[in-house]
Amino acid sequence: MASGMDAREPHRSRGPEERTGPTEPMDRWAAWSEEERQIDGWEWEYEGYDPREERLREALCTLSNGYFSTRGAAPETAAGPAHYPGTYAAGLYNRLTSTLAGRRLVHEEIVNLPNWLPLRFRVHPDEGATGEWFTPDLYPEGLLRYHQSLDLRRGVLTREMRLRDPHGRHLNVTQSRLVSMADPHLAALRTEFSAEDWTGSIEVESAIDGLVGNTGVARYHDLAGHHLTELGTGAEEPDVVWLRCRTSASDVRIVLAARTRATPQGPPEATHDRLTDFRAAQRVILPLGPGRPLTVEKVVALHTSRDRAIVGPLPAALERVRLAPDFDGLLADHAAAWARLWRRADLQVPGEPGHVLRVHMFHLLQTLSPHSAELDVGVPARGLHGEAYRGHVFWDELFVLPYLNLHFPELSRALIGYRHRRLPAALRAAAEAGREGAMYPWQSGSDGREETPEVHLNPRSGRWLPDNSRLQHHVGSAVAYNVWRYGQATGDTEFLHTEGAEMLTEIARFWTAISEFDRGEGRYRIRGVVGPDEYHEAYPDAERAGLDDNAYTNVMASWTLARAAELLRTMPVSRRAELADRVGLSDAEPERWDEVSRLLRVPFHEGVISQFDGYGELAELDWEGYRRRYGDIRRLDRLLESEGDSVNRYQASKQADVLMLGYLLTPGELTEQFARMGYELTEERWRATVDHYLRRTSHGSTLSGVVHAWVLARARHADAWSFVKEALASDVADIQGGTTAEGIHLGAMAGTLDLVQRGLTGLRSEDGALWLDPSPLPQLQEFGFSLRHRGVGLRLRMRPGQLWVGVPPWEEYPVRLVLPDRTVDVAPGEDTAIRLPD
Ligand code: BGC
Repeated sequence: MASGMDAREPHRSRGPEERTGPTEPMDRWAAWSEEERQIDGWEWEYEGYDPREERLREALCTLSNGYFSTRGAAPETAAGPAHYPGTYAAGLYNRLTSTLAGRRLVHEEIVNLPNWLPLRFRVHPDEGATGEWFTPDLYPEGLLRYHQSLDLRRGVLTREMRLRDPHGRHLNVTQSRLVSMADPHLAALRTEFSAEDWTGSIEVESAIDGLVGNTGVARYHDLAGHHLTELGTGAEEPDVVWLRCRTSASDVRIVLAARTRATPQGPPEATHDRLTDFRAAQRVILPLGPGRPLTVEKVVALHTSRDRAIVGPLPAALERVRLAPDFDGLLADHAAAWARLWRRADLQVPGEPGHVLRVHMFHLLQTLSPHSAELDVGVPARGLHGEAYRGHVFWDELFVLPYLNLHFPELSRALIGYRHRRLPAALRAAAEAGREGAMYPWQSGSDGREETPEVHLNPRSGRWLPDNSRLQHHVGSAVAYNVWRYGQATGDTEFLHTEGAEMLTEIARFWTAISEFDRGEGRYRIRGVVGPDEYHEAYPDAERAGLDDNAYTNVMASWTLARAAELLRTMPVSRRAELADRVGLSDAEPERWDEVSRLLRVPFHEGVISQFDGYGELAELDWEGYRRRYGDIRRLDRLLESEGDSVNRYQASKQADVLMLGYLLTPGELTEQFARMGYELTEERWRATVDHYLRRTSHGSTLSGVVHAWVLARARHADAWSFVKEALASDVADIQGGTTAEGIHLGAMAGTLDLVQRGLTGLRSEDGALWLDPSPLPQLQEFGFSLRHRGVGLRLRMRPGQLWVGVPPWEEYPVRLVLPDRTVDVAPGEDTAIRLPD
């Protein structure tokens, strides 16, 4: 085996008789040893309480299982300036109408569901206490200890508090919660009380609160946000209360049922229910004293009328909560489910970067989990962690699916299914615009229509401005790109030749339809679009929005057309005939795609690729002056607008636009792609292009850091590391100033994982083989991960001077690796290494 193996490379191979199977000690085949598991940070912790930081913590401590999520809010608090306890079910949207400055606006957003967290407590008023319920804001001097930790390995959020009331009584509270990864309809909260130096009784109230709205994002406060109607509550003996409601327009019925039990249990009269239409609560008064701790466990079930295999949400929730085990039982199943996820998504990076990457992985895995694959959901740009961007789906899946393809291909497939089910809506949108093919929306929600708002608020100027970002038709190429890469990574021809081919065909048709032939240029042009850099929406002082020949759009349209033509060429004849029949495809069409693909125009100026036609004529911005004046200029568009100016006038980008090409295509693919279009893209020209935009980008999107880190790492640029750090800090340090509190940036989180996985290893999947072309960063030379390629598990380890790849002995098939200097088949139990330049 190991044909073509370079004898100088360290290599060890064993014959089949030596294979020991999966029970072999997890030595070098384990991406992590037990020791490494201990060293690496599995806890994400906060010490102390700061109301100004609380919303950020809530977002970063959100727990989810892909079916529903709950922000990490303190259970005794309600929505207010410091707290925002949101609960969201994946893909559960509702549409509302608002009136703004006499204008009727309709928007659809993810719905903040009734809050299941409430659990408040007070020393029982009979004990001479003030009778006020505890909150961390109530009596700051009495908050002697406040520690919050997120156990990333098991998905458990724990708060530990030591409290002193104005009478000097000390109370310790330890509270843990989980949103079950094992049973996606269950969540639980366990609270342990212990009195240090007093004896008396404590009153605890456990509730489900339906008086909620979507009020989490200040910019949206002028818009309607109350989605729930027909609220009602009830109780079931002996310890369950429930609340039901319905979304006003999407007509989804939702039920939450809560079972609350105390240990030691009090007499029956210690507990009583308090039900109103909006709130279902249970109160219990129980004795407490030194050496007599009290534990209150709340187990909650959530069902909606969209769930499968149920009679209805109310009986389903009641049954589920009745049968649910106690907290420890739930935790055991939940932790086991998490262990399975971590095994499939091993990534070991030492030090602080590794710690942050694990936080990113945690949020990715809980936003898009195996449970998501059972649902009709896409990739929500801001996770299920807040209400920013209204829970919509943008092009961010471009940063997520290539990562998932190599660990959870079935999940990628399901997420592409979200787009396939909305193909009819995309076809309709194109038809309404007078075009053929599929025009995917820039912002997508429940049914795939365009959800981009017509106006957006500049909080700096207070002005509502037209939002032209819907002209980002390049989102269609992102869908096509994911279809193609998924097919390459998995070899799932069943999908590629059916749904995949349908999507590629219709997206190719749209690009052909929107490309106009310019006789003078002898080229096709795409006019009136907006590129990934959302700053530029129009030419300076133009009446009409949109720009011509955005290089990114044109190159990726050309790439998509070429892939669509290639797929049709290589498909089995019978499959092609079926497709032709379904979508009415003539033989001439792929030829036309091929022609347009070769003749799309790319503008250039001063030897670099122009972001769009005419970009080179825009004014230069005084970057230093703006930095001096404002410090943070990430949202330059807002600054300039508030000054009465417009970013449209300047060579200034919000995020990577042209440089996205170097993110999506390897250097070889990029050169080939340009050559296909009749342009020579030399390394020198690409480097000059990178430098040009590097100096003119404000990084107003977290995606920008990821793309720049990736592109600069491959260009061996000294600035690469600073962008890696920026991308890692995006959410944990909230670098966009307040945006993370409104929801994490899922694209940037997944992008950093993929930066290590594919960016630094040059890993790609093509023609059934795995290609590697490492490009390590001096600051990140050691890491390891596992992946699955076309059904075979592999381990990769980067060390200074070497990239090692092995197939564990328990795998069934060899993997073909294409290395920079050779091709090698690595059989189960074998490995190989690439020597890296110093
Ligand atoms: C970025 C887009 C992105 C969206 C959602 C915007 O700020 O400019 O590229 O798709 O956020 O994450």
